[in-house]
Parts: sequence; C-alpha cells; structure tokens
Amino acid sequence: HAVPYRLTVLGTGYLGATHAACMAELGFEVLGLDVDQSKIERLQRGELPIHEPGLEELLRRNLDSGRLRFTTSYEEVAKFGDVHFICVGTPQKKGEQAADVSFLDAVVESLAPHLDRECLVVGKSTVPVGTAERLADKLVRLSPAGMQVELAWNPEFLREGFAVQDTLRPDRIVLGVTSERAEKVLRDVYAPLGEIPIVVTDFPTAELVKTAANAFLATKISFINAMAELCEAAGGDVTQLSQALSYDERIGGRYLNPGLGFGGGCLPKDIRAFTARADELGASQALAFLREVDQINLRRRARTVDLTRDILGGAFDGRRVAVLGAAFKPNSDDIRDSPALDVALKIAEQGGQVTVYDPVALSNARAAHPHLGYAESAMEAAHEAEVVLLLTEWQEFVTLDPEELGAVVAARTIVDGRNALDADTWREAGWDYRALGRP
Ligand code: UDX
Repeated sequence: HAVPYRLTVLGTGYLGATHAACMAELGFEVLGLDVDQSKIERLQRGELPIHEPGLEELLRRNLDSGRLRFTTSYEEVAKFGDVHFICVGTPQKKGEQAADVSFLDAVVESLAPHLDRECLVVGKSTVPVGTAERLADKLVRLSPAGMQVELAWNPEFLREGFAVQDTLRPDRIVLGVTSERAEKVLRDVYAPLGEIPIVVTDFPTAELVKTAANAFLATKISFINAMAELCEAAGGDVTQLSQALSYDERIGGRYLNPGLGFGGGCLPKDIRAFTARADELGASQALAFLREVDQINLRRRARTVDLTRDILGGAFDGRRVAVLGAAFKPNSDDIRDSPALDVALKIAEQGGQVTVYDPVALSNARAAHPHLGYAESAMEAAHEAEVVLLLTEWQEFVTLDPEELGAVVAARTIVDGRNALDADTWREAGWDYRALGRP
C-alpha cells in the first residue's frame, strides 16, 4: 500500500529497535538512530542486542528490503523524516525515586536545530506527566524560525517477550495531540495495523495512561502477593485463592499469579517515578498506596531468603543453594531489577554458596555479578545442593523431572518461588516442596 510518510526512530533500545523494525514491516521507509556507534553497526548487520522472539527475523527482512536503515547522524535523520519517534529510555535516577528524562531532552536538543522541513515529533517513552508539554516548548524554541514542527505523545505498552506482537497488534493506541494535523498524521501511520481502538487525548492524559496501566498491573500482582502473606499467616493456599478469584470476570486471572513478584526495567521504576511525580504535583495521597505495592513486592524477595534460611536450619554458612532463573521473567534475557538475582545475591551476601543457572540470561548475569557461582545447566546448578530455588518460571524448569534432579542434589528440598510446579508430583518423588503463600 502507499506510504505517505518517512519515519525515523530515535533510540534503538528495546522499544526503538522493535518500533523501527515493525514500522518497516508495515511498509514504511524507516531510519533508526542511536548515539551508540557500536549498537548501530550491529543493528545494520542485522544483529539484535537483545533477546526478543521474532524480532531479529523482522530486522533482517527489512534491512534486506532496504526499507530499514540505521545511522548516528541527527542531520541525516532531520533531512529524512516526516515523523520522528522518540524511543529513548527514562531510567530511575541514581539514589532517587524519580525518572531521569535527560535522554529525551538530549534528543530534542540534537534534532531540532537540524530540522529543515515540516514534520511531527512523537514521544513514545514512559515519562513523568508534564514532560510532553515542556518538550513541546523546547522543540519549537530550538527549531529554525518559522519551521512547521510540533510534538505528539503516543505511549507504548509493549511487553518484553511479546514486543513484536504487542506493536503490530496493540490493545489500543493512545494519541496525545494538540492539533488535528498531528492526529491525522498518526492515524495515517497506524492505519496499516487495521481496526485498533484509538483514544485521542491531551498531553497529560496520554502520559498518564501509560503510568496508570503499569501501576494497575503492579498493584494486581502485589494484591495477590499480599493475599499470599495472609495465606502464610493463616494456613491457606494462595494459588487456589487466585484461581477462585479469577472466575469473577470483573477480577480476571491475568497478572494474578502469586510468587516472587514483579521486576524488570519497567514496573518497579515506573511506580516509583509515578509516586515521585505525584509528590511534586502535591498529589502524594493519591498514590500513597503505590509505596505499599512496592513494599509488598520487595517483601516477597525477603520472604524467599528467610524461608530458604529456615530450611537450612537458620544460617547459610557456606551451604549450597541452587538458583534456577536469573532473568526477571521467562523468555527474556533481561536481568534489570530481577527478583531471582536479587534473592541469589542476598543469599550469597549472607554466606550461602549460590550457583545460578538460566537458559538465556546467564551471560548477562555473569557480567553484572561476576562473584556469584554459575552453572551451564539446571542439573549442574543443583549438583550437591541442599536446597533448590525455582525463581524464574522458564518452561525448561517447569518440565524438570523430579527424579533426575533428585539424583544429583544433597537434599530433596525445593522452593517454588513462582508457584509453577505441580506440588503433588514433586512430593510423590520424595521432595520437600515449599512455595510462597501455600502450606
Ligand atoms: C510491563 C508491562 O506489562 C508493559 O505493558 C509495559 O509496557 C512495560 O512493563 P514487562 O516489563 O515486559 O512489561 O513485563 P511483564 O510481562 O508485564 O512482567 C512484569 C513482572 O511481573 C515480571 O517480573 C513477572 O514475573 C511479574 N509477574 C507478572 C508476576 O509476578 N505475576 C503475574 O501474575 C504477572
């Protein structure tokens, strides 16, 4: 089909690499930019710096077709694009709760002076509400006088592991715009996706939809994990509780899996940044509950460490602990704020002899925490272990044979940190099966 616009994608991390490849797949000519020269060289060769099912194939196909290219030059990007998507990260500030939006400012400052044709700049990053308005002013101020340029806000909701699917078949598209022209351009850009609900809003609402969605998901996970604490206190089974709740369609079963809780590059930092922003806006009370959500989540990690120490009789003292899982969730190599690694590190700090195995995130974990012990398989990690912890529910762990694993361990004790195993099967094989929120 005819594609009226040429697109650029500024920032080629998780979000940017996915967006660039998917937009090219839709038929657009796309130019991706990053300030990291080595990243651009790898992408241009068709190598993806991250583990994401289906994305590398998309990248290669569109590089081959010539629709997708990469550069480090803002001048080139400014000359090329009709629509510029900003996809840079907004990490948590060091030692603070707030988000660091300086990469967004840097993009606008680098791009604006080079603009020489009418264009739309579209923010996709997750930001503190109010950022879009500030960047819109900056964009106009730094662009050449009389230039037809404006900003729009179009948050992204993709999940790692489902990035391509979430981009090509999103649940909804949110367009924060200040003109009909901007709305029309973005409707045209997303038209090839077919019938997707589109919500057109102002800037603050568009920014808030994203943080509200992540806050809701985090709350749902912490809610069921708070119920797990109660089950532990009262002797109930949180997995049955969760199942029973899930049949109520108003509640629903997704994001209601109790266990070690949420991690990753988004949910933890986004709820902290959201509360920090609410404080700045004088609306602290509205999000006070999110601090509890964060605390409940972190308590699950502490609880897992305590449970393991109790199993070992009250001290770690060089005892062997096998940790299955390093990624923050299965089907990802991402170890940012990984609950599994956090538990492994705390046990090692307290004197346990930890051996970690993960099917995909092992090299990332090794690079970040070289002092932990690592193994090349679940069996090797479990060798002579006195307790095995399942902390990321990779399929390969869920299908482990309790007999085979039982043959290599020093004691048949397993802590199922994700409520992913069938308790009866493991108990029948002679294991002491423990889980969070279950008797
Ligand atoms: C999340 C949002 O889902 C996505 O919409 C947003 O754009 C970015 O943040 P992601 O970080 O990729 O995506 O991970 P997600 O699949 O949502 O999982 C987050 C964490 O919650 C993982 O650590 C997972 O193990 C945990 N989780 C999820 C639970 O503990 N229980 C659940 O029921 C669901």
